[in-house]
Order: sequence, then structure tokens, then C-alpha cells
Amino acid sequence: MKGVHNIYHHSYTFSFLLVFLALILFHPALSTYVNTMSSSESLTISSNRTLVSPGGVFELGFFKPSGRSRWYLGIWYKKVSQKTYAWVANRDNPLSNSIGTLKISGNNLVLLGQSNNTVWSTNLTRENVRSPVIAELLPNGNFVMRYSNNKDSSGFLWQSFDFPTDTLLPEMKLGYDFKTGRNRFLTSWRSYDDPSSGKFTYELDIQTGLPEFILINRFLNQRVVMQRSGPWNGIEFSGIPEVQGLNYMVYNYTENSEEIAYSFQMTNQSIYSRLTVSDYTLNRFTRIPPSWGWSLFWSLPTDVCDSLYFCGSYSYCDLNTSPYCNCIRGFVPKNRQRWDLRDGSHGCVRTTQMSCSGDGFLRLNNMNLPDTKTASVDRTIDVKKCEEKCLSDCNCTSFATADVRNGGLGCVFWTGDLVEIRKQAVVGQDLYVRLNAADLDFSSGEKRDRTGTIIGWSIGVSVMLILSVIVFCFWRRRQKQAKADATPIVGNQVLMNEVVLPRKKIHFSGEDEVENLELSLMEFEAVVTATEHFSDFNKVGKGGFGVVYKV
Ligand SMILES: *[C@@H]1O[C@H](CO)[C@@H](O)[C@H](O)[C@H]1NC(C)=O
Ligand SMILES: *[C@@H]1O[C@H](CO)[C@@H](O)[C@H](O)[C@H]1NC(C)=O
Ligand SMILES: *[C@@H]1O[C@H](CO)[C@@H](O)[C@H](O)[C@H]1NC(C)=O
Ligand SMILES: *[C@@H]1O[C@H](CO)[C@@H](O)[C@H](O)[C@H]1NC(C)=O
Ligand SMILES: *[C@@H]1O[C@H](CO)[C@@H](O)[C@H](O)[C@H]1NC(C)=O
Ligand SMILES: *[C@@H]1O[C@H](CO)[C@@H](O)[C@H](O)[C@H]1NC(C)=O
Repeated sequence: MKGVHNIYHHSYTFSFLLVFLALILFHPALSTYVNTMSSSESLTISSNRTLVSPGGVFELGFFKPSGRSRWYLGIWYKKVSQKTYAWVANRDNPLSNSIGTLKISGNNLVLLGQSNNTVWSTNLTRENVRSPVIAELLPNGNFVMRYSNNKDSSGFLWQSFDFPTDTLLPEMKLGYDFKTGRNRFLTSWRSYDDPSSGKFTYELDIQTGLPEFILINRFLNQRVVMQRSGPWNGIEFSGIPEVQGLNYMVYNYTENSEEIAYSFQMTNQSIYSRLTVSDYTLNRFTRIPPSWGWSLFWSLPTDVCDSLYFCGSYSYCDLNTSPYCNCIRGFVPKNRQRWDLRDGSHGCVRTTQMSCSGDGFLRLNNMNLPDTKTASVDRTIDVKKCEEKCLSDCNCTSFATADVRNGGLGCVFWTGDLVEIRKQAVVGQDLYVRLNAADLDFSSGEKRDRTGTIIGWSIGVSVMLILSVIVFCFWRRRQKQAKADATPIVGNQVLMNEVVLPRKKIHFSGEDEVENLELSLMEFEAVVTATEHFSDFNKVGKGGFGVVYKV
């Protein structure tokens, strides 16, 4: 009997081993990868042991940048051949040789060097350890320390997501956590092979009227702002070229009494994306498997209009115009000579000072909101009330809606000079700038945008105008018989039927006053100037012949 039992037992063990072997061979992740470390275990450089997140995206362990002899504890992407580090623990305190140990000591994670000196620690105040503590690398790359019997994120003793290095991963938050008083921000690496803290940070600024993210260069102990995200407008930060609606990423900005934070998530977990700050730039990289490395989704600053102070106060930067800096209508260059020589940094000044009563507003569309240093926000009122509020404050220079969703809610208003305005090609939002009534031509386009009846009326007038031009032309043609057909665009000339003629008289050098509304060829430059670079403010309407501008 005993023999039979033994044989049975052995074959049972044997088949179990076979299954186990098969598991190892065909599912290495199930058997060889570990993502937790208990208080009786440790990770050492010499053992080569690492933790791998479930799903196999992230790996935590020791690394040594090539060409250097210093060792760091970090997290990198396991499946990306181009070695990419998402987090570094001891960035400013490297291990000087290949002797290092990560272990749990009490309720702290500690990194010990050659003589058991503490190189890095989670620095939690010691308290009685209630139950066993473990360290765990989560699927999203968050390295956490928790009680082994409590998996709930609110019970984490410590998490690496609270201490970002240069990279924001999906599900990680950037910004203030008022419960802990911590501002989570990104700090660049000193150089591509040196993880120590560099000079550039990307952080939430809550000193201004509205919170926004800023890219800072810590230069000669100064903090120089290089780029502003602009405030969140309900959908996006107008200064960041994130693409809403592409459905690969979902952005989340939360502002309440507990936190002001930005995060993003991927809708397809096999596509990676990360936000990384490096020297002078903030970048979003994405990776679609099975590519070797990353592709750049966007990088900031992108162009000259992104450099702050390029166009001074009351002027806006527009890449589609030449020069890039444009005075807002109703303003003239402060320093004409510098302006003419393409130095727009001195900005523009009002043609007529604001009066406390009888002012109006000019609407600028597709704008990045100006610097919010002098801005205040009231989230309870709508645009109409916002306008009244601004008019009733003699110091108010401008207003905009705080949340552009559902036709706009909330009110941002400025009481100081408007600086750092940029016109975007597609994104951006409406900005209403206060002007003295003398500078607002109320018979012109701007005001009409705000009331449907006037829009309808203006389109009607435009159509009439176009029709009369056509009739007039036919008449003229008949009269003159031999008049040549209008030539298509030649060189820098443009067909005048693209631009319907003005009510005001304009003088063009070398030409007669364009009073008789004849379809004529006109210097392209003149048209550009007259229509303010075909700006939308001058657009009166759209007819069958093209866009109609007022001059
Ligand atoms: C750890 O990895 C290095 C380099 O891959 C290798 O030289 C060393 O032998 C490994 N050590 C152990 C204990 O496996
Ligand atoms: C460091 O600590 C370990 C374990 O406590 C011990 O075995 C080792 O001798 C210590 N090394 C030094 C240099 O003190
Ligand atoms: C922990 O505290 C020590 C001493 O106060 C400090 O030097 C070190 O930077 C702290 N480490 C972390 C990770 O905050
Ligand atoms: C955004 O984040 C907050 C917490 O920060 C969360 O409560 C909310 O559900 C998130 N929204 C979305 C759409 O994920
Ligand atoms: C997610 O992306 C991968 C890689 O491009 C693709 O193969 C897969 O079909 C996508 N999954 C979904 C649900 O779109
Ligand atoms: C307007 O600004 C002036 C000078 O900055 C200040 O003294 C005054 O109180 C402000 N008025 C209002 C209504 O805020």
C-alpha cells in the first residue's frame, strides 16, 4: 500500500512540475516577475533583482548612466528599447559605487550605500508599525509603500507619484495637493546622462489670479518664466497644443478645496505617452508599439510667439502676420521707430484713454488669454454680466469667459495692462478689450458679433453692396466695351473682387482715390494693410465672391 501511495504522490508532483515548467516557459511574466518587496527582502545592485509592474510596462531597479560610475534607483519603461527613465529616487544623491541596497526599515524605504549610510529615504516620521509594510510597483508605474493588508490608494504610506522627477506619467498628478501641502512639479535632468536636478521646472503657479502652469528657467538664482500654459478654460490650457477629441488621451484638470491638479490618461493602454521637461522645453512624447523609441507629439516653446515679452503690452503675436506683433485696434505702437524695426517688445498704447463711462469692447477671437497677474475670476456669472462688471469698474481693461463650455460661463477680468497675448490659428478663445467709444467704430464689425440682429443686418448690407458692385460693373463694362477682363492674381497683386470696397476713403500711392467702387487691381500690400492682414475683425461677412472686409 505504501508503495502505491508513493508512486501516486510522485506522479502528482511530476505533473505539477510539468505545468509549472510550462508556465515558466510560456508565461515568463507569471512566474519570474515580482512587483512587491516585503520588509524582510531587499534589492541590491549586485543581485540584479528588479521589480516589474503587472502588465510589464515598468521596471524598478538600479541603473548607472553610461560613462558614469554613479548608481541610481529608478523606474524605466521595460519594453522600450530606447532606455527611458520615468522616475529617479536619489537623483541628487547617487551611490558612488556598485554597492547599494534598497530595503524597508520600520515604515520607511531606505537606500543604503557601501558603509550602510542612508543615501536616500522616504523620511516619514516614525510611528508604530501596525502591520507588515510592503513596497509595490503598480501597473501605472507608481512605486508605493503600504500596509500589506490595505491596497486602497488613500492608505498609501508613501508614493513615488508624489515626488515626480522630470516625467509626468498617465494617472499621475501635477499641481497642488492641499491636504499634504505639496506642490508636485517636474524638474529637468541636468543633462541627458545626468539625472541630478537641472535648471528647468514645470510647475503650477497659484500666485496669479488664475492658476496656470509655467515653465521656469532657474537662471543665476532667478526664476525666469519661459512659457505659460494660460488658465484652464474648461477644455484645455490655451497655450498648450494638446489635441482634445483625438480620443487617445483624456485630460483632467481639477480645481477644488482639496487640490488643483492636472493629469491625463490613455484610452488605449498599449500606447504610451509622457510629459517631460528638459532643457528649455516641455515635451509630450508618445510611443505606439512596436516602435523602438518615442515620437514627439509636441514641444513648447514652439515658435517666436511662444517667447514671452516678444510682443509688449496691448499687442498680440500672430505667426500669420508680418511683423508678428500687432497692436490691438485702438492702440498704436509706443515706440514707432522700434516697432518699425520689428522690435515689438515695447508694445502699444491707447489712442484714446479709457473713460469711466461710455466705453465699449472690442472682441478678439482665437486668443490666448493675457498674463493673469492682474486678473480676477468670478465663476458664477455669465459673459453678459461679466461685461457689465467690467464696465462698472473703471480700472477694468478686459474680460473673457472663464469656462468656454456650453456657450461660456464664469468671468475673468483684468485690471492692469494686457501682456503676453497670442493669436492662435484654431484654438484660443474670445478676449474682450475695453476701448474708449472714440476708438470703437460702432458701425463696424466688432460690435455686431455680439448680437444676431446686427450680424444679419450687416450681412444684408454686404450682400447689397456686392450686388450693387456687380451691377455697376456690368454697366461700366457695357459703357466701355473694350475693357479687359479682370486678370487673375499676378505677383503681389490681388483681384479686388476678393475685397469689397470701403465706406471710408483710402489713398493708395500712385492710384486715385478708390471712390467709384470700380473693380480694380490693388497693391496686395495695400489690401493687407487695409484689412489688417485679412484679420477677422475686419471681416464683415462672407459672400459668394469670398470674404468681405471692411477697411
Ligand atoms: C548582473 O548583471 C551584470 C551585467 O548584466 C552581470 O555582469 C552580473 O554577472 C550580473 N550579476 C548577477 C549576480 O547575476
Ligand atoms: C551593513 O548591514 C548589513 C546588514 O545589517 C551587515 O551585514 C553589514 O556588515 C553592514 N556593513 C557595514 C559596512 O557596516
Ligand atoms: C530626508 O531627510 C534628509 C535629512 O533631513 C534630507 O537630506 C533628504 O533630502 C530627505 N530625503 C528626501 C527624499 O526627502
Ligand atoms: C479627474 O480627477 C478627479 C480627482 O483628481 C476625479 O475625481 C475625477 O473623476 C476625474 N475626472 C475624470 C473625467 O477622470
Ligand atoms: C490599441 O493600440 C494597439 C497598438 O497600436 C492596437 O493594436 C489595438 O488595436 C488598440 N486597441 C484598441 C481597443 O483600439
Ligand atoms: C483703480 O486703480 C487705482 C490705482 O491702481 C486704485 O487706487 C483704485 O482703488 C482702483 N479702483 C478700483 C475701483 O478698483
